[in-house]
Amino acid sequence: MPAKVVVIGSLNMDLVTRAPRLPQGGETLIGHSFATVSGGKGANQAVAAARLGAQVSMVGCVGADAYGEELRAALLVEQIDCQAVSTVDGSSGVALIVVGDNSQNAIVIVAGANGALTPALIGCFDSVLQAADVIICQLEVPDATVGHALKRGRELGKTMILNPAPASRPLPPGWYANIDYLIPNESEASALSGFAVDSRQTAQAAATRLIEMGAGKVIITLGAQGSLFADGQRFEHFPAPTVKAVDTTAAGDTFVGGFAAALANGKSEAEAIRFGQVAAALSVTRAGAQPSIPTLSEVQAFNAP
Ligand code: RIB
Repeated sequence: MPAKVVVIGSLNMDLVTRAPRLPQGGETLIGHSFATVSGGKGANQAVAAARLGAQVSMVGCVGADAYGEELRAALLVEQIDCQAVSTVDGSSGVALIVVGDNSQNAIVIVAGANGALTPALIGCFDSVLQAADVIICQLEVPDATVGHALKRGRELGKTMILNPAPASRPLPPGWYANIDYLIPNESEASALSGFAVDSRQTAQAAATRLIEMGAGKVIITLGAQGSLFADGQRFEHFPAPTVKAVDTTAAGDTFVGGFAAALANGKSEAEAIRFGQVAAALSVTRAGAQPSIPTLSEVQAFNAP
């Protein structure tokens, strides 16, 4: 039986425009294309974990609109258990995304139904949490919900992963003791630690600070520079596979979902990081959030000599 990963977080419909570059303030650009694509950091991580070998349950909210139906259907097609995805009054979460020809993006999210995922609603699905091997949270749902989920997961003895995205400020100090793996990118690691992060060396300083604050282990993702693992005893740098990037949307989500699936299925931390990195590298070679996430056989084929 594949191990069980539970993702507590957001579902967004991504409204994606491709343009020559990202616009500046007050500027109008002529775009190349427009598409609506299923996304949201939580849902993307759930799809990644499911395609990459885990049995997955999603805990979240969608609105009572056409996007909500589409977002749920996109998870069901991946065999993701959606008994804990609630439909609430109002609009589903949306993300306005511009992707430039250099593959970089800019994103504005509007929480919509994701704001209705309360601690009380999480409490209604405690049996889903109880069945988990690994639980993943991010920051596109209310802070009170994330704090509650981390605390409950810790009480249940689950392996807890927090991807602190998006983060522009320090986390509540009480959260750290309930996090086994904290997985920020460079800007998130800066916001949380107070140290500028733009290299392996500066990532080490930030990771050290985050462990002092109470996180169990830290993995800082550094884009094309790979990732930096720290556990308070040692650092290990994992170089990223070299690929031609088309769209970096959901690369971090693919890493987190892939890492969680591999860890839950008994891989070592190093194996799970390398696996997540290959999955993320493949995802940036394709457009969109969920459509870009590779399958287990694609990752295995990439690793084959
Ligand atoms: O991490 C990528 C995701 O961020 C997008 O799918 C978008 O919905 C935003 O949540």
